[in-house]
Amino acid sequence: MPRALIIGSGSEIAATRLTNDQMARVVDTNDQWIRERSGVETRHFAPPDVATSDLGVAAAAKALEAAGVEKDEVDMVVFATMTPDHYFPGCGTILQHKLGLGTVPCFDIRQQCSGFLYGLQLADAHIRAGMARTVLLVGAEVHIGFMPWTQENYDYALGVSDVPPTKEEREWNSRFRHLVVLFGDAGAAVVLRASEDGERGVLDHDLHGAGADYEKLCVPGTGFKHRPYTSPEQFERGDHIPVMDGRFVFKMATTHMAAVAKTVLERNKVTSDEVKMVLMHQANKRINEYCQRALNLPDEKVPHNIHKYGNTTAATIPLLWDECVRDGRITPGDLVLMVAFGAGMTWGASLVRA
Ligand code: UT7
Repeated sequence: MPRALIIGSGSEIAATRLTNDQMARVVDTNDQWIRERSGVETRHFAPPDVATSDLGVAAAAKALEAAGVEKDEVDMVVFATMTPDHYFPGCGTILQHKLGLGTVPCFDIRQQCSGFLYGLQLADAHIRAGMARTVLLVGAEVHIGFMPWTQENYDYALGVSDVPPTKEEREWNSRFRHLVVLFGDAGAAVVLRASEDGERGVLDHDLHGAGADYEKLCVPGTGFKHRPYTSPEQFERGDHIPVMDGRFVFKMATTHMAAVAKTVLERNKVTSDEVKMVLMHQANKRINEYCQRALNLPDEKVPHNIHKYGNTTAATIPLLWDECVRDGRITPGDLVLMVAFGAGMTWGASLVRA
């Protein structure tokens, strides 16, 4: 049976960089709190004319180039995002069109921070079943639309306006301060190819979903549970902005990420010594440090980029993969474990031989 082998990757970081100090110009927060509690130092946000599909397309183009794959060879697309350009359609066919791919099946999946791993299993399953040979798997997000500040506040934060937020605006922005400091915008993609090589490729997955506590991390408004699905009242209440019980999510993430990583290693009879890199979702550096200790991993096996980009949701793991491949920390034959936890709640781990 063929296996899905990652043969190329690419990433695209949104253009506008915002430091913690800049954010503190419009939100009651400070650089020290953000660094100590999350590890984030800067994040990048997309300019107004750049949508999630655009970051995905740019990343995918680089991934195809790195893989040496022509557009007409791609026979399936999987696009993971929680911030699609439109309510519908999803970003899959938009990317297909913008990239100029054939009329191939395009899956849109929304498992938030676990989206890439869910997409990896979907792509791998199609390849193993012989239903696809070359799959483009994309994770991309434009979170800036969740940010509560006005354009004028944002311009002030960036230093292009002299008009500071009013007291009311600052209070409104600060209501969401535990959330807004975490996120950033980026896209990342991998190309997966059916491989008959018995050793290399995606080896195993262990994915989970449990909705009992979904309201601890969700967007309460703008959904079809409401009639109409969106309304000015929802916006006045701030129901278009995610709610997040940070401490609850932190505890769930540390518990499940460490456990699922151990499960995948044990059932494949792989020790952490044999793993070259463990790519953990970048939601909070402290979550990953906890998991690193639980798995007894040395620092060099656990790369971080949350300090530069914040949490880019579906893009974090392919972005880390792309960085590690390009700078030589991951080379062909290396064993790589990927671990994520996200809204839903969803979590999982995948073991891959590069
Ligand atoms: O990828 C999406 C999934 N999300 C996650 O994985 C998030 C997981 N959780 C976390 O990352 C952390 O819980 C946070 C970074 C969100 C918060 O860190 P924390 O250490 O759990 O802080 P906390 O919510 O318990 O708040 C501690 C204090 C509070 O003040 P008091 O009540 O002690 O006076 C907050 O009001 O920190 C305050 N605070 C802030 N202060 C400055 C909350 N946000 C901020 C802020 N700047 N941005």
